Amino acid sequence: MNDKQLLMIPGPTPVPARVLQAMAKHPIGHRSGAYNKIQAEVTANLKWLHQTESDVLTLTVSGTGAMEAGIINFLSPGDRVLTGCNGKFGDRWAEICTAYGLQVEKITAEWGQPLDPEAFRQRLQADTAKEIKAVILTHSETSTGVLNDLAGINAAVKEHGQALIMVDAVTSLGAISLPIDDWGLDVVASGSQKGYMIPPGLGFVAVSAKAWVAYETAKLPRYYLDLGKYRKATAKDTTPFTPPVNLVFALQAALQMMREEGLEAIFARHNRLQRGTRAAIHALGLATLGPDDCASPAVTAVMPSQVDAEAVRKMMNQRYDIALAGGQDHLKGKIFRIGHLGFVCDRDMLTAIACLEATLKSLGCDVPMGAGISAAAAVFNEA
Ligand SMILES: Cc1ncc(COP(=O)(O)O)c(C=O)c1O
Repeated sequence: MNDKQLLMIPGPTPVPARVLQAMAKHPIGHRSGAYNKIQAEVTANLKWLHQTESDVLTLTVSGTGAMEAGIINFLSPGDRVLTGCNGKFGDRWAEICTAYGLQVEKITAEWGQPLDPEAFRQRLQADTAKEIKAVILTHSETSTGVLNDLAGINAAVKEHGQALIMVDAVTSLGAISLPIDDWGLDVVASGSQKGYMIPPGLGFVAVSAKAWVAYETAKLPRYYLDLGKYRKATAKDTTPFTPPVNLVFALQAALQMMREEGLEAIFARHNRLQRGTRAAIHALGLATLGPDDCASPAVTAVMPSQVDAEAVRKMMNQRYDIALAGGQDHLKGKIFRIGHLGFVCDRDMLTAIACLEATLKSLGCDVPMGAGISAAAAVFNEA
């Protein structure tokens, strides 16, 4: 049956009908009063979502473009940076930095384990010459379903006193509280196809006052992604280049929906979905990759022992029209990932768990049918 797919991947995430309808309009000129009005509303709501009074800039890029913008605007060739690597996206930060000729030092943890704040503290304390210009990490590591201890690592950066902290919040923004101003986060990158509940195509970068000071002396080349241009334009409720106007309509509608739901309710929903999913997986006798106490609010990685993870994904897709994500790099075939980010509710998860139970049974696994549903429902009933 067409148009019945349940998208349970960590991005692109499901898009509400109200947002789709907002997009299905004729574009308007971006140098018009009508556009300025939308841009002003969107900017105010982005600041609300980011819990910041500082700048949040919208770019026509995917999440990686927002990350790259973070690097090239605030650093110079040869700068020493400390990157946290415990999954595909932490590795990506290191790759971008290497591509731009930075001196990259990695703090690593096994895929599936969180980064250790103490390792950052020790390295930063040893940097008495203050050579480390930035500490760069992924908050929610989508490849493994691990949430890194951003508060703990940030505390070590603040003790250092000089380094900027740059965060990939691509699958944490809009899913868990990220008090950017309270914590003093300098550069925070995210993308539209995630917690924002809109299609891919927009990237966002929040920039602190301290980062803008670094911008003045940063020497990496930049043009389209020169955030100074975006800052100037945003202050005048406009954009430096032609924006994808219909995606901005979508963003306007999605942010309105988020304001109606409220930040605390959004975070509580993601927390409930995360706990319900893991409870169900454990009740079915399956293992999750990574411990429960550092679980991503966006995605749960499952390691089935009795069956190939790709076989589960294939049957979920073909028989039930539910899209799950696979493992990346060396985890391909070993895990499947259930997304619970953005426009996802308890009912979606109960549906996915029921279909997962049926799939596992069909594939010959010995699973206690109904145990997953019952465990997830128990979590959902707590509220
Ligand atoms: C944590 C994280 N960082 C970065 C990205 C890259 O985003 P994009 O594919 O939009 O460039 C993703 C995409 O899934 C992600 O999950």
